[in-house]
Amino acid sequence: MTEPRIVDRLRRDPDAERRALAAGLTATPASIPPKYFYDAVGCALYGAICELPEYYPTRTERAIFAEHRAAIAGALGRGRQFVDLGAGDCGKALQWLPLVAPVRYVAVDFAGDAIGAALAKLAPDFPGVELAGVVTDFTRGLDLDADLTAGPATYFYPGSSIGNFTPSDALAFLRDIRRHCAARPGSGLLIGVDTKKDKARLDAAYDDAVGVTAAFNRNVLAHVNRILGSDFRPEAFAHRGFYAADAGRVEMHLEATAPQRVRLPGATRTFAAGERIHTENSYKYAPSEFAAMLAAAGFADVRCWQDAHGDFAVFHAA
Ligand code: AVI
Repeated sequence: MTEPRIVDRLRRDPDAERRALAAGLTATPASIPPKYFYDAVGCALYGAICELPEYYPTRTERAIFAEHRAAIAGALGRGRQFVDLGAGDCGKALQWLPLVAPVRYVAVDFAGDAIGAALAKLAPDFPGVELAGVVTDFTRGLDLDADLTAGPATYFYPGSSIGNFTPSDALAFLRDIRRHCAARPGSGLLIGVDTKKDKARLDAAYDDAVGVTAAFNRNVLAHVNRILGSDFRPEAFAHRGFYAADAGRVEMHLEATAPQRVRLPGATRTFAAGERIHTENSYKYAPSEFAAMLAAAGFADVRCWQDAHGDFAVFHAA
């Protein structure tokens, strides 16, 4: 068994990141990039969100995969490279690896520790598969040319994370993947997309009854405090999560419940009661809209699988 090889391509610039984070907080309206949700507590809370009765995307995608596993595996083909974008604990890829028998499995994520541990755990079960990890932030641009061979690859991006990009950034990301596919004939993308639906269901999915999403949203302030040395009081902000149908997206905000004065590096930021910090957008796409986006990115051969209610869509694009 060969040891998984982890390559660190993350160009870290903590000072620039701190400056950008503080600038977003001093701006009006204030904002925090959603990547700051995912400290250890945030990852655990996100795992809990995925099991909530109101949060249908995870289990609906899982059900589509289960129902159409053979057809999807047929579209993916066998013996390719399997590139897991945002691999995390590699759990979602695990269900595909035995079926598609990849020559290489490449886990890509900005959390190097997570993929290191996951690949080490995976290794004994896949002795014939070359395992590799790439630590990078592909939301800033995808370049895996140095990490892949010339052979065909499946790019795997489940979970509707594409919804957390703006539509123009999503198109740019899909074009990046298409460029990787074109450079390796026979390659394709398997991606999960959340669909537009009834506002009440989307509101509930992002503002659940027991408050797990609220805790996830507020936790970002505790994470920001550790990074900036700021003194946000998470309990002094209310969670807001709702579908803005005109924009085709769910928005999450943190709303000051009373006037606030917060210490930031070199500045004090005051928040009026009711003033919001924008923490996330989660765009929803009609299947036809997303198919058009895949076509605009250069994919010619697109297949789509959905659940019976049309709540979620899985696309294979080549
Ligand atoms: C990670 N991402 C796909 C989730 C979403 O649905 O946009 C993040 C999330 N935010 C609140 N709940 C879940």
